[in-house]
Amino acid sequence: MNRTTEALVAVPTVDVSAVGATDTPMQQVMRLARRHGPVFRRRLHGGERLFVSSLDLVAELCDEERFTKHVGPALENVREFTADGLFTAYNDEPNWARAHDILMPAFALGSMRAYHPAMLRVARRLTDSWDARLAAGSPVDVAEDMTRMTLDTIGLAGFGYDFESFARAEPHPFVGAMVRCLDWSMTRLGRDPDGDFTVQDEAFRADADFLAGVVDEVIAARTASGDTRTDDLLGLMLGAVHPADGTTLTTANIRHQVITFLIAGHETTSGALSFALHYLLKNPVALRLAQQETDELWGGTEDPEPTFEDVGRLRWIRQVLLEALRLWPTAAAFSREAREDTLLGGRYPLRAGDGVSVLTPMLHRDPVWGDNPELFDPSRFDPEAEAARPVHAFKPFGTGERACIGRQFALHEATMLLGLIVHRYRLIDHTGYRLRVKETLTLKPDGFTLTLARRTPAR
Ligand code: HEM
Repeated sequence: MNRTTEALVAVPTVDVSAVGATDTPMQQVMRLARRHGPVFRRRLHGGERLFVSSLDLVAELCDEERFTKHVGPALENVREFTADGLFTAYNDEPNWARAHDILMPAFALGSMRAYHPAMLRVARRLTDSWDARLAAGSPVDVAEDMTRMTLDTIGLAGFGYDFESFARAEPHPFVGAMVRCLDWSMTRLGRDPDGDFTVQDEAFRADADFLAGVVDEVIAARTASGDTRTDDLLGLMLGAVHPADGTTLTTANIRHQVITFLIAGHETTSGALSFALHYLLKNPVALRLAQQETDELWGGTEDPEPTFEDVGRLRWIRQVLLEALRLWPTAAAFSREAREDTLLGGRYPLRAGDGVSVLTPMLHRDPVWGDNPELFDPSRFDPEAEAARPVHAFKPFGTGERACIGRQFALHEATMLLGLIVHRYRLIDHTGYRLRVKETLTLKPDGFTLTLARRTPAR
């Protein structure tokens, strides 16, 4: 450290142990940030965590020369079932760089063209299912159906495996097991050290084994088919060699990558779509603009066949998604660590390797977003507004080399589906829904249902 201790500033420390475990920890830290400001330390049962949410400090944490990803306690828990998969690998684990380099081509923008037909096929499953609900006069459970859609999409597009979620009355059991594993990872953070959690841990182990079994089935289905293509994620993992050193991924690592992608590839996108629909429902002007956009693109066609290029033309709808991700980034925090001892903002001392959590929903409410950051306003993502804003003000996909590899995949899939939905239906707020946010490590609207009516597109 190169400053005198006089320059250092004490970080406010808030002890929440007395409150006990909460099932909405992210919203709890958001409340703490509102009260104690953009830098504070939360103490819970003896464990401490530093949270940061102001633009200037987050911009510093995003400097890859000084900081890197930190696998914090939450991800350590997730590692119990994803090990050195891309999301939870330590920076220096050889399998991170190996898998990253092998899989990157599968996420280039051009590759989305290859996934487009599978994405459209699954989007149609959703609209077929919603048509049936509409005909029966029954409501749709938005988050549940978005999860069906995103799970089937990553299954088919990434692995050529069909979860057939819309043919099931209940979501695929993979979803339940996954949600419980994520929930276990989250609630384990707030455990009372004197408590006995044997039952929870045994249930977790059974769920983790179930996930591993599903993954083995996905891999076995491909191997048995004799299909040796290398244009999807599984094909690349099974067949491709590292572009520089010629190595391949091990069987154990492929398993961890498949679980990682099945989880990372659907849960967050499903939440983003659900929040976007919620905000469209509550903001008739934004909805009308979205419908105008699809009407202009698809004219009076009631059953459009979106092309890959069409999705790039749905600019307002993409802005709606980004604005929903601003207010509720569905992976609501990411952690950074200093490469060497340093001072954050010239005043908060950090030791090399100490974790700092970026509280993304509060970064997204920083004063850089204007006087009314709670207002849903997709025009914040007009190209001119975006160009004028500092790059680190918006971080729903994390940062640097460990940022989300699936960002284009998520946005392509979600923009197309949202376009199809607003073009086809009138959304009816039959319960006068008020947003409640459910947390299972990721965020989504809780208990959000809609009824639908068919819409006549304008010519
Ligand atoms: C990493 C968010 C969709 C795969 C991340 C990170 C965030 C994030 C914040 C960084 C985590 C950290 O720094 O600890 C999101 C959101 C999504 C989304 C909000 C949807 C709206 C997807 C999709 C896929 C995916 C569709 C795969 C098809 C991954 C992977 C990583 C990652 C593999 C780890 C990358 C690495 O460390 O090399 N995501 N994600 N994500 N995401 Fe996403």
